[in-house]
Amino acid sequence: MEVLLINGSPHPKGCTYTALSVVAEQLEKNGVATQIMHIGNKPIHDCIACGKCAESGLCIFNDDPVNECAALLKKADGLVVGSPVFYASASGSINSFMDRLFFLKSDPYRLKPAAAVVSCRRGGASAAFDNLNKYFTISQMPVVSSQYWNAVHGNTPEEVMQDAEGLQIMRTLGRNMAWLLKCIEAAKGKIPFPEEEEGVMTNFIR
Ligand SMILES: Cc1cc2nc3c(=O)[nH]c(=O)nc-3n(C[C@H](O)[C@H](O)[C@H](O)COP(=O)(O)O)c2cc1C
Repeated sequence: MEVLLINGSPHPKGCTYTALSVVAEQLEKNGVATQIMHIGNKPIHDCIACGKCAESGLCIFNDDPVNECAALLKKADGLVVGSPVFYASASGSINSFMDRLFFLKSDPYRLKPAAAVVSCRRGGASAAFDNLNKYFTISQMPVVSSQYWNAVHGNTPEEVMQDAEGLQIMRTLGRNMAWLLKCIEAAKGKIPFPEEEEGVMTNFIR
C-alpha cells in the first residue's frame, strides 16, 4: 500500500512539507509506504478547457508535473494534498494543478481515500481546507478526517513544529488513513466495490 502526498507549496521543505512529513511518518509506522511529491515553484498552467484530456486521458501541457502526478495517483492507494493558505484559500498553483489533475478522467481515483492538509500563519485555514476537499468529494474519494480540521499554524517549519495541536492532528490523520487503507485491503475479494451507474449530466438545475 502506498500513499501519494502532494506538496502544493512553492517551498520544497517549508511548512506544508513539514505537516505532510508528520502524516507520512505515521503512515510509514503503520505499514504504508509514502511518496511526497513537490509541484515545484515554476508556474503551473491553468486548465484551458480544451477538452483534449477527455480523449487521451492526459493533459496537453507536459512542462509541469500534472501528468506525472496523475500516473503516480493511479498507482497509489491513497492521496494527501497539502497547500499553504494564500488569501484564505489554497494556493493558486495547487488549484490550477488540482483542476487539471481532476479534470483528467478521474475514474481511477474512485474510492481511494484522500485528505487535505493546509498550513497557515494565522487565518483562512478552514476555507482553504474546504477548497481542497471539493476535489475529492466530486470524485467518489472517501475523505479521511482527523480530530480537527487538518491545519498547522506557522510561518516557518520551526514554528509549525511548535504547533503541538496541529502536529497531533497530522499524526491522527496519518493513523486514520492507514487504518482505512487496511480495511479496504482486507475487504478486497470479499466486499465488491459499489455498483456504478452510467453517468447522468444535466447542465442546469430544475
Ligand atoms: C501570497 C501569500 C498569501 C498568504 N495568505 C495567508 C493567509 O490568508 N492566511 C494566513 O494565515 N497565512 C497566509 N500566508 C502565509 C502562509 O500561508 C504560511 O506562511 C504557510 O505556512 C507557508 O507554507 P509553506 O512554507 O509550505 O509555503 C500567505 C503567504 C503568501 C506568500
